[in-house]
Amino acid sequence: MTSPVDYEKRGHVAVIVLDNPPVNALGIAVRQGIDAAFAKAAADDTVQAIVLAGRNRCFCGGADITEFGKPRQEPSLSVLINKIEASEKPVVAAIHGTAVGGGCEITLGCHYRVGDASARFGLPEINLGLLPGAGGTQRLPRLIGIAPALDIILGGEYVDAEKALELGYLDAIVPAEGDLIGGAVAFADELIASGKGPRRISDMTVAGEGAAETLSAYRDRIAKRARGLIAPQRCIDAVEAAMSISVAEGMQLERKNFDELVQSDQSKAARHLFFAERQAHKIPGIPRDTPLRPVKKAAVIGCGTMGRGIAMSFANAGIPVTILEQNHDALDAGMTAARKTYAGSVARGRITEAEMDAAFGRLTGTVDHADIADADIVIEAVFEDMDLKKKVFARLDEVCKPGAILATNTSTLNIDEIAAATRRPADVIGTHFFSPAHIMKLMENVRGRETAADVIATVMKLSKNIGKVGVMVGVCDGFVGNRMLYAYRSQAEFLLEEGALPQQVDRVFYDFGFAMGPFAMGDLAGMDVGYMVRKHRRETTPSNDRYSSTIADRIYEMGRYGQKNGKGWYSYAEGSRTPEPDPEIEALICRVSEEFGIQRRPVSDQEILERCMYTHINEGAKILGEGIATRASDIDLVWVHGYGYPIGRGGPMFFADLTGVEKIYETMKKLHDAHGDMLRPAPLLEELAKSGKSFADYQS
Ligand code: 3HC
Ligand code: NAI
Repeated sequence: MTSPVDYEKRGHVAVIVLDNPPVNALGIAVRQGIDAAFAKAAADDTVQAIVLAGRNRCFCGGADITEFGKPRQEPSLSVLINKIEASEKPVVAAIHGTAVGGGCEITLGCHYRVGDASARFGLPEINLGLLPGAGGTQRLPRLIGIAPALDIILGGEYVDAEKALELGYLDAIVPAEGDLIGGAVAFADELIASGKGPRRISDMTVAGEGAAETLSAYRDRIAKRARGLIAPQRCIDAVEAAMSISVAEGMQLERKNFDELVQSDQSKAARHLFFAERQAHKIPGIPRDTPLRPVKKAAVIGCGTMGRGIAMSFANAGIPVTILEQNHDALDAGMTAARKTYAGSVARGRITEAEMDAAFGRLTGTVDHADIADADIVIEAVFEDMDLKKKVFARLDEVCKPGAILATNTSTLNIDEIAAATRRPADVIGTHFFSPAHIMKLMENVRGRETAADVIATVMKLSKNIGKVGVMVGVCDGFVGNRMLYAYRSQAEFLLEEGALPQQVDRVFYDFGFAMGPFAMGDLAGMDVGYMVRKHRRETTPSNDRYSSTIADRIYEMGRYGQKNGKGWYSYAEGSRTPEPDPEIEALICRVSEEFGIQRRPVSDQEILERCMYTHINEGAKILGEGIATRASDIDLVWVHGYGYPIGRGGPMFFADLTGVEKIYETMKKLHDAHGDMLRPAPLLEELAKSGKSFADYQS
């Protein structure tokens, strides 16, 4: 077997190149290869410096995640990196594309770092529920300082070449046209010529001034933003330790925490989501090499809440967008709101003024259909009204160029019916964004009966290109996300009729890890929104018995619209967003119970959890069984990225597997006996439980 690490000599410089496609992950064969190559360079007296580079799409994507949880094989990454740092000959990392996780840590063991313009570095271990485990928490603060290091470690995002140079991570951006290794060798030759030897980060100290305040500020931030997650705390602890102990001691502490975290359910959940995101792009019947349609220009119909957020997502990714509104007043109002959102991001320091101007400059408003004729993709985001959508699509069919993708952002309506309003149903697809669309990561893409394979492939690729998590699902009422949402929300409301109160139900959701429970969420979204949706649904699907919502309807009819007028499921003090339980609502709930002849009883937290979360999973099982979702992990992505399902739980179906499918099935059977047909266990849940399988085993 050939080694995944190449070795060559250029003059007095040994060039060691990682070659383990696709991302040069540092599996055991690569670690052994690097170890052997460094030993060879050390033993060769004619070698005076070493360059470490990578082939393929990036320098290195880090430790091989598929090896996690298995017995560790030597040399471990930490041992290897320490050996590199100990080299008597100066070592230069030559970085193209990403150097992340263990890939970044290996560059921190090198004595110098150069990159080309594509270079990016980061420590994304936190996204896997981990802390950097091969010296990252010890060396990065020594190199660039505590606050920037914590931003990178806790943020899990990647830093581009220019910023890396500014921070002092990169020593130089090598301009050599397309020849990074040549540039790195030239850099190494200069080191040799000037007699500069190794420069070890382990010999540096962490600047301590103001550190206590900095650490405490980060701890406060994490307590709010990453409530209940263990890894962020451990990252801060490790960086704090870097101030007072040696790198060797710090790495021992890091390793102990890493080993513990890697076994935790939170990290298993996060790793599940990492692979789920990639798996989602494998769609049965859509080969990987399906030709893509070019998407260079976009158009959005409607500049309301969703339309402008969608348009901003394109603009932020560098794709020019034309937004079509029904009249100038609506257009001006929408464009002003978009500008205000950008200005807010500048004020919060998320983007620079120049970035705002560049992005806003990619948005063009119009009221003339002729201006969208050359768009490669059009996304419709007008009111949720089937007749209106059909009219809009019939018009798009007339004006758009052949081959344009015609997408709808509908949250519930039937894509096939919308597609039938055109003469090109194969070009029609759903792209369901979530509010606020420029921030929320999910794109729940919906394939219609006739949607063409290249339209499906293009929209999935587009999701990734604009920084979203794309999941392809089929047509059904509410698609995956909203259909599952209705399932648990109706149970939450039935529980109120039986004896619970909104604050108890919401607390159970909060303790489970949601930012808020269904009732606080109802107030945030607006009671009027839910009321209108229910009214429409009752009119269009009168037999639909999944809703009770009597209490919600009454609350709306009392003129309580939620946070927007300070009263909904809760009441809100002037200018406050904190929900306060309201005796008026408690009285209303008791009255409704009485009207329905329900004897109120104490409802335990456990019952709330099981009734809501298990019904939620049960609906997911129905969706899977019907083939609406391809695999359980697609459903998990929808819930984590679209609905704020706690990341540490890995999504509803992963939570189901951790809990035990059989246990959920047995509980659903009991709930079915007690409450009737709406809680009947899904056939797939029963099948998996009886065959001892999990959702992870299932693919439709
Ligand atoms: N280990 C194993 N497989 C990996 C991997 C890794 N570290 N990183 C990526 N892959 C796999 C993906 O699963 C995918 O496989 P598939 O083709 O079979 O689905 C393939 O490589 C390509 O990945 P992407 O589709 O993500 O490719 P991109 O070109 O879009 O992105 C990347 C490349 C920027 C490197 C991206 O994969 C990435 O950000 N990876 C994250 C890596 C990460 O989290 N590293 C930290 C690992 S933990 C660690 O290093 C611990 C250390 O501190 C001890
Ligand atoms: P909105 O009411 O904020 O905006 C709709 C916009 O469409 C208005 O600005 C209106 O002037 C414009 N419009 C209406 N008819 C038009 C036409 N013929 N041509 C051009 N523009 C026209 O509505 P919102 O909330 O943005 O919803 C839009 C769509 O997105 C709906 O289908 C909705 O179900 C869906 N959606 C909404 C979400 C939300 O949280 N608001 C989430 C996900 C999907």
